[in-house]
Amino acid sequence: MASELSPIDRAKFLAAKQATEYVETGMKVGLGTGSTAAWLVQCLGEMVREEGLKIKGVPTSTRTAQLARKVGIEVITLDEAKWLDVTIDGTDEYDSDLTLIKGGGGAHLQEKVVATASDRMIVIADASKKVDTLGAFPLPVEVIPFGAKITKKLIEETLINMDVLGREVTQRMNGDVPFVSDEGNFIFDLHLKRIGNPQQLSLALNQIPGLVENGLFIDICDVVIVGHADGRVDVRDIDKDSDEVVRFDLRDDDNIFADLDD
Ligand code: 5RP
Repeated sequence: MASELSPIDRAKFLAAKQATEYVETGMKVGLGTGSTAAWLVQCLGEMVREEGLKIKGVPTSTRTAQLARKVGIEVITLDEAKWLDVTIDGTDEYDSDLTLIKGGGGAHLQEKVVATASDRMIVIADASKKVDTLGAFPLPVEVIPFGAKITKKLIEETLINMDVLGREVTQRMNGDVPFVSDEGNFIFDLHLKRIGNPQQLSLALNQIPGLVENGLFIDICDVVIVGHADGRVDVRDIDKDSDEVVRFDLRDDDNIFADLDD
């Protein structure tokens, strides 16, 4: 099974597998969106089916909700959960402060609401997501369709005074039509190249009335788990100020990858 996975998928899978260590029976768990989070949902589903793990999952997108149900995880809404023990999600970029850019999958609004309603947020990633300075990945912002052109103009004006290198704003498309989020909104991608002051930028963007939420996650993430194709997994816990290296023995493929249906 391991040999069938590309190096990048192996890295994502190992990060997800390590993240399951933070999940225990009885927990309410926020389930992220994206290819790395999908591995996590599959791993948790296997633990539910094979090991009797009992959890309630709050998905951050319709995609994740479908997958969670398919693999056997009980799905509830955030309002039913009221509060979550942990949220585990992927990221598009993270820096040394564990500030994130998320929303590459267009789900950062629900992802931020869910992560903020959790005791802990754990990010799972491959090594390509680590950056010295955020901004190479375009920053997604979610915008209501009403007056979207005006909102775009206000975003462009706001960026003039921000510490960024690029200022192009593009609307995310789905083929020939605008991409629409699960909340019925548009996504604009901000091609900033380098974000000098994420806090200032996040506050300024969220002042724009038609802009619902931006993809910067500041002081939300507690732990980053980075998988590597060679079986190494780095765990950085910002609350404990600790760095740990875990090693999976890939020769033991059959146990690590058993029964995963990707
Ligand atoms: C979706 C997200 C994802 O977590 C992010 O895009 C990373 O995705 P992947 O794990 O596929 O690289 O924020 O909105």
